[in-house]
Amino acid sequence: MTEFLYIGIFGTLVFCMALFAFQQLSVIARKDRVVLVSSNIGHVEEPFLSAIRKYVPKTEDMNFVEIGAGYAKITAIATRSFPWKAIIAVELDFFAVFVCRLKNKFKKLPITFVKANVFDYAIPAKSIVYSYMSVPVMNRLLKSGVFDSCLVLSLTFAFDGVEPIAEYKIKGFQKRLLVYDFR
Ligand SMILES: C[S@@+](CC[C@H](N)C(=O)[O-])C[C@H]1O[C@@H](n2cnc3c(N)ncnc32)[C@H](O)[C@@H]1O
Repeated sequence: MTEFLYIGIFGTLVFCMALFAFQQLSVIARKDRVVLVSSNIGHVEEPFLSAIRKYVPKTEDMNFVEIGAGYAKITAIATRSFPWKAIIAVELDFFAVFVCRLKNKFKKLPITFVKANVFDYAIPAKSIVYSYMSVPVMNRLLKSGVFDSCLVLSLTFAFDGVEPIAEYKIKGFQKRLLVYDFR
């Protein structure tokens, strides 16, 4: 009986490791996306919260959307800190979305985890959009008009030719949080 238990645990571990290795390889094999899945957001939290307090007087009237959400750490902070109309984390990576949904079975935060390419996803109007994606990705999204009526908080990466309304200093290599108001 105990042998079966050990075999079960070992089998599950091997399966999870294989799944993880497979998804890492599939990420490395692709060139059309930003590949870093998770960042250290400890030093981003305070500037992020300050920006929302200053520029979003009634969060309950707005949606919160994190694009390229990875493990949706900032989304979790936004969820715990303010009331929102809807909370959405959009991520392309299957494994990250799977882990987020699984964890949230226990945390039970009111977050909708969307497994999608952000270029195919319709960001709801009147959203606060948080992003830590690259300049080409942000410029392409801006050109397509998806940020109209949104406030965009972009970690590190600036849009070409648009002045942010504020710039918060961040410790560490990410250095800044830029605020763009398209409302
Ligand atoms: C630099 S990470 C940021 C992760 C998280 N937002 C954070 O701050 O820790 C960029 C994330 O964007 C995701 N990503 C890249 N291209 C994407 C796309 N076209 N649509 C949706 N997500 C994408 C990646 O899988 C990755 O998790």
